[in-house]
Amino acid sequence: AQTHLAPTPPMAWMTWNYFGENINEQLIREIADAMHSSGMLQAGYQYLVIDDGWQGGRDNRNNIIPDSKKFPSGMKALADYVHSKGLKLGIYSDAAPLTCAGYTASLHFEEQDAKTFASWGIDYLKYDYCNAPKDSFTAKQRYKTMADALRKSGRDMVFAVCEWGERQPWHWAAAAGGQLWRTTFDIRDSWSSMMGIYEINVQLHAYAGSGRWNDPDMLIVGLGGNKGPSGDLGGTGCTITEYQTNMSLWSMMAAPLIATNDVRQMTQEVKRILMHAGIIAINQDSLGLQAKRIASKDSIDVLLKPLVNGDVAIAILNKSATTQPYALPFASIGLEGRYTVQDVWTGTTTKRSQQWKGSIESHATVVLRLKKE
Ligand code: DGJ
Repeated sequence: AQTHLAPTPPMAWMTWNYFGENINEQLIREIADAMHSSGMLQAGYQYLVIDDGWQGGRDNRNNIIPDSKKFPSGMKALADYVHSKGLKLGIYSDAAPLTCAGYTASLHFEEQDAKTFASWGIDYLKYDYCNAPKDSFTAKQRYKTMADALRKSGRDMVFAVCEWGERQPWHWAAAAGGQLWRTTFDIRDSWSSMMGIYEINVQLHAYAGSGRWNDPDMLIVGLGGNKGPSGDLGGTGCTITEYQTNMSLWSMMAAPLIATNDVRQMTQEVKRILMHAGIIAINQDSLGLQAKRIASKDSIDVLLKPLVNGDVAIAILNKSATTQPYALPFASIGLEGRYTVQDVWTGTTTKRSQQWKGSIESHATVVLRLKKE
């Protein structure tokens, strides 16, 4: 795999969970403007990814073309605009004749489509697996065919494998040429969906590393139970505390951070969560390790993520419905000595510390950054 394409987990915004198929060039331009002006780009969200629903079939030379009503100026002009804002543009296809939403996809046209995407200036391809055979042999082969085609196109494009974890892609997707692979079903805007996905993804820490990431699907931060123009994808929304847990856990798990809310109208709370520099630094840490769950007892999970220069990030998640007191002597998890401890979300720093002790609100996650003294 071309690991240089994603040395740290990709950070992006994607159309699907909020806008669904209701996308067009005006929207993408507005999103690009908003990513630039809101600080999202500066915070690290570099890719703007157009998901399913952009396609308009093939022309008389079999070149894939965008829907001319949604994208009348064409994809090259749109990519130029997105690039002019300092962002990179992603697009979507599928390893079958048709995508999940029934649009034209890339099977048997891999090289031609890769060339087309390259000529438009595309920087990222999300490659779905609807309408394709169930076995992992075919899946691996089809993903490899597209990865090879992307490489042959001569343009660097991140390759995101999206077969929802059904064929254990953590075993083969990097070898097939992907830099990230979905590990689960689609996320929905609810606590139970988030926890279901977390339970699967947290166990896969050994497969992640620089250039090869487990993708537990998009962040739901800021969806707010508001279905948006995508229609009802399911989920009644989360509390701000729960969204903060989404950001905390995904960052600890070195997951791609892919927002999908309407970035043109973010509340202060949503901005604070999505653009938190200290949390993003943990996600983007150059060691590239996914946190390991080192304890799970009485509804409390403890995750540990080694960081560069010997720092350590610790997350303490309260899965229960009530506030829980908790004490974590650092020596009990193999961290001897004294530490300068930063509570990353609050910014509070404690020196010469040998433990963390406090109470954790229901569904909240405390994230600590430890520096050895
Ligand atoms: C299924 C994927 O898992 C989603 O993220 C989205 O890309 C849809 N397909 C689009 O049809």
